[in-house]
Amino acid sequence: MFLIQRCLCSLNNKAELLKIICASGCPRFSTSAKMSKKFKNARRIEGLGSNVWVEFFNLSAHPSIVNLGQGQPDISPPAHIKEELAKVSAIDSMNQYTRGFGHPSLVQALSSLYENFYGRSIDPNHETIVTVGGYGSLFNAIQGLVNEEEEVIIVEPFFDCYEPMIKMAGAIPVSLPLRLKPTKGKDWTSASWILDLEELESKFSSKTKALIINTPHNPTGKIFSKEELQGIADLCIKYDIICISDEVYEWLVYTGRKHTKIATLPGMWERTITIGSAGKTFSVTGWKLGWSIGPKNLIRQMQIVQQNVIYTCATPLQEALARAFWYEIKQLNDPQCYFYSLPRELEGKRDRIIQLLQKIGLNPIIPEGGYFVIADVSVLNIDLSEMKEDGCYDYKFVKWMIKNKKLSAIPVTAFCSKYKKEFEKYVRFCFIKQDSTLDAFEKIIKNWTKKS
Ligand SMILES: Cc1ncc(COP(=O)(O)O)c(C=O)c1O
Repeated sequence: MFLIQRCLCSLNNKAELLKIICASGCPRFSTSAKMSKKFKNARRIEGLGSNVWVEFFNLSAHPSIVNLGQGQPDISPPAHIKEELAKVSAIDSMNQYTRGFGHPSLVQALSSLYENFYGRSIDPNHETIVTVGGYGSLFNAIQGLVNEEEEVIIVEPFFDCYEPMIKMAGAIPVSLPLRLKPTKGKDWTSASWILDLEELESKFSSKTKALIINTPHNPTGKIFSKEELQGIADLCIKYDIICISDEVYEWLVYTGRKHTKIATLPGMWERTITIGSAGKTFSVTGWKLGWSIGPKNLIRQMQIVQQNVIYTCATPLQEALARAFWYEIKQLNDPQCYFYSLPRELEGKRDRIIQLLQKIGLNPIIPEGGYFVIADVSVLNIDLSEMKEDGCYDYKFVKWMIKNKKLSAIPVTAFCSKYKKEFEKYVRFCFIKQDSTLDAFEKIIKNWTKKS
């Protein structure tokens, strides 16, 4: 045994090492069938193996493919945020751990910024938490507040991690779909997606603990109106449940629409956690910083999860983000403020991508917020028989498009569970892209129209 271990130490190749171990028949190392059961997944992750981002990141990785899939901005983030990060990383203390629930200067900046929009003071230490992206906030909220067997209501299509996160908490996702109700004589817009309040109420039960709402909505671009949110708020209050409001696209609102925070409606502050994201706010998705704002008792439960899971987020990123917020807070009433200049820039890109999609015969549903547009691709009647694998129409279509048109997008059923059939003809295209990417997309569209 000792000899085997000695020779193993001198081997670099792990595979070779394993072969020798198994051949030795040493009981301490042999992988019998009985023992291998212990290496099976934990029940809490049963059935959660596939992930659309992992799959399509790989499928779209080749440089020849124009990638309008994942919400990955390829535009430059504001110069000031990049400069601040460079400066901050040169300060020794900024390269060490910081306060677990949010770097002091960042939580101060968050409270100063959001006080303007909530019309109330926000205690930086108790009513905010900085997390690993919007994902981290969702995880902390669900783990910290939802018990096994309790139900969480979600709206399909939903940002894909909601369902697995609820399941990992041992809870039960209960979903209902948005339904498309076109307005006569008008273009289809994301406002045509309606959440039926009677149907929503039918989903409440004695087990309902929380509801997750997402506005502006990914993938449709719907901005829930104040009236719609009031209807949802009334139900949250009537059934005494927690509202998790995912508002990571809060600034990305196009002409004629306004974003309303459900937490600002009467009776909602005390039951709402509102989630934001630096990735979406400053086009720095790789920074993976997010935050939640909410009442002390709810934020406290999120802090408990965080202190036992990741403890703290990266200090230099938090300090640079705080400085970027202060920069924008000073020009909050100025059109140059990035919170307003970015959506203005994106609106032009949205219109361009819509016109191009129309050229191949699609009728995209105009998004009023966010940076995605969805379109019914079944109208193109593409022969997908070469796509042998099983699966929903949209998955096959996108895989066909990657292969034949060198264009990548995201199938909308990736955001669905029970209602895949209702959404399988839709595909999502991302338009937070620099002009050269959109030029490459235009070239694909020109060739596409020539061939057809
Ligand atoms: C609706 C929604 N919520 C949350 C997130 C996660 O945000 P982050 O990248 O900050 O973790 C995303 C990211 O795409 C999203 O679209």
